[in-house]
Amino acid sequence: MCGIVGYIGKRDTQTVLIEGLKKLEYRGYDSAGIAVFTPEGLQIAKSIGRLANLESKLENTPLVGSAGIGHTRWATHGKPSDVNSHPHTDHSQKFSVVHNGIVENYLELKEELIRQGYEFVSETDTEVISHLVAREYEGDIVKAVQKAISYMRGAFALGVLTEYEPNKLVAVRQASPLIIGLGEGENFIGSDIPAILNYTRNIYILNDGEMAVLTEDAVELMTIEGNFISREMISVDWDTVTAEKGGFDHFMLKEIHEQPKAYRDTMRGRISENGGKVVFPDLKLTEEKIRSLSSIHIVACGTAYNAGLVGGAAIEQLVRIPVMNDVASEYRYRSPLITPDTLVIVVSQSGETADTLAALREAHANGAHVLAITNVVGSSIARDADDVIATLAGPEIAVASTKAYTSQLIAFYLLGLYMAQVRGTQSEEEIAHVIAAMQSLPEQVESMLEKADAVKAYAEQIAGHEHLFFIGRGLDFSVVQEGSLKLKEISYIHSEAYAAGELKHGTLALIEEGIPVIALVTQDNVLEKTVSNIKEVKARGADVMAITHEEHVADLLKSVDQALSIPKTLPMLTPALSVVPLQLLAYYAALARGNDVDKPRNLAKSVTVE
Ligand code: M6R
Repeated sequence: MCGIVGYIGKRDTQTVLIEGLKKLEYRGYDSAGIAVFTPEGLQIAKSIGRLANLESKLENTPLVGSAGIGHTRWATHGKPSDVNSHPHTDHSQKFSVVHNGIVENYLELKEELIRQGYEFVSETDTEVISHLVAREYEGDIVKAVQKAISYMRGAFALGVLTEYEPNKLVAVRQASPLIIGLGEGENFIGSDIPAILNYTRNIYILNDGEMAVLTEDAVELMTIEGNFISREMISVDWDTVTAEKGGFDHFMLKEIHEQPKAYRDTMRGRISENGGKVVFPDLKLTEEKIRSLSSIHIVACGTAYNAGLVGGAAIEQLVRIPVMNDVASEYRYRSPLITPDTLVIVVSQSGETADTLAALREAHANGAHVLAITNVVGSSIARDADDVIATLAGPEIAVASTKAYTSQLIAFYLLGLYMAQVRGTQSEEEIAHVIAAMQSLPEQVESMLEKADAVKAYAEQIAGHEHLFFIGRGLDFSVVQEGSLKLKEISYIHSEAYAAGELKHGTLALIEEGIPVIALVTQDNVLEKTVSNIKEVKARGADVMAITHEEHVADLLKSVDQALSIPKTLPMLTPALSVVPLQLLAYYAALARGNDVDKPRNLAKSVTVE
């Protein structure tokens, strides 16, 4: 999830691009770059780090010209560095490309291009596109782009320039957002509305499979096959802050709604074309090493720890290797038993959490292979780990983690399936069956988000309480731990997440008349047991909300006060759905209590102290 801006017109192009990128920095900020047509030709400036670094580079050598493209990067393929930053170019330096998204088959295409004599300088998938466009160019940039993308699989939004046709800017959208801004004698492209809001409010929204050819005076819209199309212009009345939040009231709500995309992006390129296998082309963990593993430690903090609980259970079920979960701040001080056959998985959205980093170093000191699941490819944890599985959720801004948690679950499921393939612990049919169910998750989340009002109504009901309980068994217990953390973190309502069967061993004493109890009841193998536990709290006066599958609602309503239903998937995958109403519950409860949802008191997004 990076940011794209592009301009063609009479203004100072560099200023338009830099101002646009400033508005997109929230989308990605590990490096930035621009390409501008200058009288000397297409010139590129890029720099690792925040946009300010690029600005200081340009201070002494500004790029003055009539058209350009800019990009702010959130690394996915290749660490943050000057050379991996966009725009990318071909060996002749005549073509320049900015790209959001992932080219799934970039390795195949790269090998083919290398065989044909093309030289690569970066580790990115994007560089493949610039070479492809250069290879296909026969005097018409639009045709060259169309030809190039016909070889590509995956998600991409592109801005393309060539020195041979300086009066044209080509834009493409395929499963990654892109808009066209319309001006007088000037036109713009942007991955997001804020990028161009300073200059125009008139836009076209491209759909998947569409492209645009911009000149100063015109914008032509067509399908990627070259059929011309017309589109109604939209006039945007958002202010900049609303635009940054994509029209949502808070980043947290936006990020909850970005989950279907985060699921798709995290799966993208990691599932074979026929849907039968998981592939991890970049993993250094060899098949031999996977076969030799005798234990796995999963170490993380907060929400990432909670994701590890679900991930660990999935790996145990799929691979039949013992998994131990640990809070990072405990792990390093308790002399964990690490053998050469232990895999340590550290999980961190930011990749900078001090406790998790220290645990990683402890694991390394004991000779373990450390695999990081992280959302920030250039982070300290990603750099120090032996292996990285990137969650492709894009930057998470709200302190309360949502899309990072669910994409960590997706990463764990993929890893578990991959290890099961290697160790032969699941049949090919079973693996394909789980993959197929995973591919339905994004749509299922979308359907739940459409029904958010029911959760909102319940959140408003509990917002006046100071204490409540979450209960569940098995994976439901893992998920309610995340639900409880989320609620505490932003609504400041005290809540406890309890293994439903454990309540009677002490905590049941706290259940009194009217106390809300939220019971997650999705795991069929323990359903009856959970219902018994629900009856225990009901008998003490609790007000119980059950979250369950539609098929159980009618029955459960005999024992509970209200029920919400979620779509059905495999039990192992259910956490990727059942957490969504809990995230919404926390959000709406915090809202009802008038709290600062995105910046809860006493907390920071990245905790870099132990
Ligand atoms: O960046 P990390 O995933 O390493 O952060 C770990 C925790 O600090 C984080 O998940 C925290 O618990 C969240 N704010 C919870 O929403």
